[in-house]
Amino acid sequence: MSAIPKTFRVKSFGCQMNVYDGERMAELLGASGMAAAGEGEDADLVVLNTCHIREKAAEKAYSDVGRLRREDGSKPLVALAGCVAQAEAGEAKARSAMIDIVVGPQAYHRLPQMVVEAAAGRRLVDTDMPALSKFDALPVRRRATPSAFLTVQEGCDKFCTYCVVPYTRGAEISRPWDDVVAEAQALVEGGAREIVLLGQNVNAWADGNRGLSGLIRQLAVIPGLERIRYTTSHPVNMSDDLIGAHADVEKLMPYLHLPVQSGSDRILKAMNRSHTAASYLRTIEKVRVARPDIAISGDFIVGFPDETGADFEATLNIVDEVRYASAFSFKYSPRPGTPAATMENPIPAEVMDERLQRLQAKLAEHSTAFNRSCIGRETRILIDRKGRKPGQMIGKSPWLQSVFVETEAAIGEMVDVRIDHALPNSLGGSVVRQAVAA
Ligand code: 5AD
Ligand code: SF4
Repeated sequence: MSAIPKTFRVKSFGCQMNVYDGERMAELLGASGMAAAGEGEDADLVVLNTCHIREKAAEKAYSDVGRLRREDGSKPLVALAGCVAQAEAGEAKARSAMIDIVVGPQAYHRLPQMVVEAAAGRRLVDTDMPALSKFDALPVRRRATPSAFLTVQEGCDKFCTYCVVPYTRGAEISRPWDDVVAEAQALVEGGAREIVLLGQNVNAWADGNRGLSGLIRQLAVIPGLERIRYTTSHPVNMSDDLIGAHADVEKLMPYLHLPVQSGSDRILKAMNRSHTAASYLRTIEKVRVARPDIAISGDFIVGFPDETGADFEATLNIVDEVRYASAFSFKYSPRPGTPAATMENPIPAEVMDERLQRLQAKLAEHSTAFNRSCIGRETRILIDRKGRKPGQMIGKSPWLQSVFVETEAAIGEMVDVRIDHALPNSLGGSVVRQAVAA
């Protein structure tokens, strides 16, 4: 039995969809009368919004939970949320006496009620997956960051053999058109100038016969909204319509995150990716015809079971063909319950390490080359944070690079800059003029 919490803290790990969920949980707790704890301040309620995608996720979550015990031996109310909560469900209560609430990604709209019950001494688990009701139960959004996330699609039916997502986030569902447009409008009214549409398979978003390209075109007419992005896409859902939007929707930014995972058809088949290296390259080619300056980003897994040296070389080859502007690369990590976890010929750790290093060296060459190709270019950036040096601000280019500039412009403003120099992960520029809103 403890008092109903007055203050809360939500800590999100993992993907952007988790960040979005974390923001919505914070809004929900705020709307139910609690206040966000200030920096360094003890919170009465701590929500750990966890990620389960790779290595030892559950162990990490339990050790994070353990660290919430205060020096005087007391503890806050602890809610385990996110994908580890979904995967562990009732187990979590048994594994850690610190945990009061276990709440899955489709059930967090019930969090305020669960907090009240937990304060009365009950330990609760809710990992139901009711389709969509979560969004209906969340408060209207009133404040937004200059670049705001908006989840439009959740879950996955693709069942890549290495991936836990179909199990933790459930089947693919799309939010209705009207709900998405209303949330986008609220975000813009709350200060957003860029909206990033999110989904595990965002380009599979559909409402009846309307797809993501139609939604993007609709959002593009919202006054005050300057930029639209979307992530993450699956190669098989990269429709001609969506590719066409990159050619003619000016607000759609020239950036596409399109994971390939491997360049070897044999491995892609074992991964159940339903595309080949050649079909992926054809898609990239079409996207580049539509938008020649587009920045392509990707995800890679090295050391999938039975990956030979030749398979890995094929991955290096596709990296050279695509010339990725940025990328995320990972060592394969067996996820309990997924088909790949029991496949034969696991790859020894030292081979994985060596392959990851070689892949990352090659990816860094390409991202550095892409960044260098921007030197001398004039472009518009959206300021999103302060830099470390006095007077320095950091903004995002259309190609999602971080650009450091000296300017008096505030967070949320746009400035036109000339790119002066390039590093592997960022650019430096000087202001040409302050941009006026469209
Ligand atoms: N092991 C390693 N990487 C993985 N990813 C997903 N599941 C695994 C796994 N079991 C990577 C993929 C995916 C990204 C979000 O995480 O590259 O695109
Ligand atoms: Fe996981 Fe594959 Fe679905 Fe992506 S497409 S979420 S990698 S199963």
